[in-house]
Formats: sequence, C-alpha cells, structure tokens
Amino acid sequence: MSAASAETPVDPFLSEEFQGDPASVIARMRDEDPVHQIPGIGAWMVTRYDDVRALFTHPDTTNDRRQYEHHRPPEDAMAQWIAANSPFAAPPEQHARMRRLVSAALTPRAVMRMEGQVREVVEQFAAPLRGRRGVVDLFAEFTEPIPNTVIGRITGVPPKGSDELRWRQLGRDAVRGVSPFLSPEERRQSEASMVEICEYVRELAAERRREPREDLVSDLVQAHDASDRMTNDEIMLMVSGLVAAGTETTTIGGTRGIRTLLQHPEQMEQLRSDPSLMPNAVNELLRFDFGSLGLPRYALQDFELRGKKIRKGELLLLSFMGAHRDPEVFRDPDRFDVRRDTSRLTIFGHGPHYCLGANLARTELACMFEAVLNLLPAEARLLEDQIEWIRFGMFNAINSLPVDFGS
Ligand code: HEM
Repeated sequence: MSAASAETPVDPFLSEEFQGDPASVIARMRDEDPVHQIPGIGAWMVTRYDDVRALFTHPDTTNDRRQYEHHRPPEDAMAQWIAANSPFAAPPEQHARMRRLVSAALTPRAVMRMEGQVREVVEQFAAPLRGRRGVVDLFAEFTEPIPNTVIGRITGVPPKGSDELRWRQLGRDAVRGVSPFLSPEERRQSEASMVEICEYVRELAAERRREPREDLVSDLVQAHDASDRMTNDEIMLMVSGLVAAGTETTTIGGTRGIRTLLQHPEQMEQLRSDPSLMPNAVNELLRFDFGSLGLPRYALQDFELRGKKIRKGELLLLSFMGAHRDPEVFRDPDRFDVRRDTSRLTIFGHGPHYCLGANLARTELACMFEAVLNLLPAEARLLEDQIEWIRFGMFNAINSLPVDFGS
C-alpha cells in the first residue's frame, strides 16, 4: 500500500461500517456534516429531516434524471422515447394534468376493487406458507413477488397464467433502472424489460378501449378531466411508471418490516394482540428501517445548501434514514415503537410528486404484516446471519430473508 493511500481516509458513506451499521454513520454525519459530498461519486448525501423535506420541493432541483451530469441516454430508440416522455419527470403543467387524470380514475369503487385484489394476491402467496416447517425465505416466497403481482392484477394482466409470471420477471428487471448506479449491461437489460412492459400495456389499453373490464387500464381509458382523455401511449407510460415506482419500494418496506418485527418480539406481540395498531405500525416500520438508500434529486442550477455550493447537474441523495432518525423530529429515534407518533413521516415524499400509491402501499403492507403475524409459528426465528445482501453503488439491499419455522 502506498503512503498516499494509507493516509487517505475512506469516506464514511463508502466505508464497511456504512454497510454494516448505516444508522450510526448517518447519525454521526447528520451532526458533523449534514450536506456531505462523497468524493469520487460526487453525490451529496443529505441527512437532516428539514433539508430532506425542503429538497422534495426545492425549485433548483428536479427528479428528471436527464439533468444528471453523468446521464447517458438509452441506446434503444423506444427506451429513449419512454425515458423522455415519463409523465413523472414532465414539466409541471403536464405532470399535474396526468395526476388529475389518474385521480379521476381512482374512484371509490376502483379503490375498493384494488383493496380486494391486494388481499387476493397476498393470500395467493400466504397460503403455501401456512403449516410450513424448516427454513423459509420470506423474501423470495413472499415480499418480493407480491408487489409486482399486485400491480399486474390491478392493471388487468390475466391472473395466475404465464402472463403473470412473465410480468413479474419483467417488473423485477425494469425497476432496477431507477438506480443511478448500474453497469451498462444491467441498464440495457432494465431498459429492454421496460420496453416490453410498455408494449404489453399499450396493447392492453387498445383492447380495453374496445371492450372495458373491471381494471385500472379500463378506468384510465375512461378517465377524463375538463377537456381531455388519456391516449394509449399515456396509459402505457403511466402504468410503466407505477411498475417502476411501486414494486421495489413496497418489497423493501415489507422485507425490512418483517425483519424488524422478528427482531422485536415484544412489539410483535403487542401488534398481534391489538390489530387496531396496524396502520400506525406500518408507518413506524417504514420510519424505523427502509434501508440506507437516498432519493435522487438533480441540481437544475448552482445553489447553496448549508453553506455548500451545489453545482448544476450534480446528484443529491435525500436520506430517508437520515430524516427518519433525526432526533430533532423523532424522540429516541433508534427505538422501534408501534405506538409512537408517526405523523411527521415523510417516506412517501412531499409536494407535487407525493407518492400516488401511498394508500395502496399502506394497504399492501398492512395485509402482508397481518398475514405474516397469522402464519408464523410461535417458535419462528429470523436467521439474521444468513440474510443475503446485494450491493448497488454504496447502498445494500436484502436479497433473502431466511426464517426458521421450526421442525
Ligand atoms: C412503501 C412503498 C412506497 C414508498 C416508500 C414510496 C415512496 C415514494 C416517494 C418518496 C415518492 C416521491 C418521489 C419524488 O419526490 O421524487 C413516490 C412517488 C411515486 N410513487 Fe411511491 N412509494 C411506495 C409505493 C408506491 C406504490 C405501491 C405505487 C403505485 C402502485 C407508487 C407510485 C408512485 C408514483 C406513480 C410516484 C410518482 C408521483 C409523481 O411524480 O407525481 N408508489 N413514492
């Protein structure tokens, strides 16, 4: 090792400690350097609640990743068109119109139907786990497949056939594209999957326009605001946006949530004995551990934040863990407590991009946790040291959740 490298300290966010105990690193950085630039990567990590909250709606930032200084447009023409036309990164007026149309489709009847579909899908994956013995990977068999299947079912993908399986695979590959840290090969594969999903939905929209059914695509076909309706292309972009935004997020929430419950048996017992705690418990589980990742924002122009000069095109990562363990906002933040006041949770964002699927996500998570509390035998034990982790960029994700159901 050279003298220079021996002296160069590893950035806290690139350290092994961050992989193993992100909460401690984030707590330290929140105190010492709350807007911190990570050398090499160049990204800014923002760890205070107030800053994270303000950046959700900061006029000098955008969620449009084409503004990133290192952005490379997709090679495939269709993938390029999809990326360029995402309704969620569109200019404010176009974005607001799309949200109005989606809200118009979410009638009380549609929401009730979706809740029923969520319950059906959760049951589809819970049933084979009842009475199981030995080690069960609750990630592979439960929290990973459910959100994708839910979006497919809601959209109108035929249930339980080969289409549903293919949809799940495509969804899994496509959502990886959300990460700014992918190899060129991973990015190509993710884009190809997104294109296939889009083509599937465009055809589905054309079919539902001819013959509506009880599903979201039919509702979107019929939704209109004062002046207009959605085109098949817009529906396709909307549904692909739901896949990208609503699958991995819910999987993370479900997987981390079940892990947290198993790590806190006394809290799990409270929840079992008083199911009315579930809505607040869902919030608290999301607050307590949604992983170490940060939500990306890109600087539209130079601006200052806590005395740091952010340059046009730079990436800011809004740390959920930073915000949700901030002691200025959550007292005794490292304690998991299903009865805590969670009203300042900001896991679903804030402002014009506030999560369109927040209610659906909460319903999905409540159903998943309820099912797990019901089906886990009393002797179930999390095999924490056998959890498989995967790295993407400086973040890590859970890739298996082995639980011993007993013999
Ligand atoms: C635990 C699960 C979820 C979490 C933590 C979550 C979180 C978020 C956050 C933080 C945003 C704001 C993004 C930003 O400001 O750039 C967002 C936006 C969005 N979410 Fe979710 N989400 C979840 C589940 C879902 C689900 C299930 C769906 C739909 C089926 C969904 C659909 C969307 C959409 C479409 C947007 C973009 C809204 C816009 O730009 O106007 N999300 N979500």
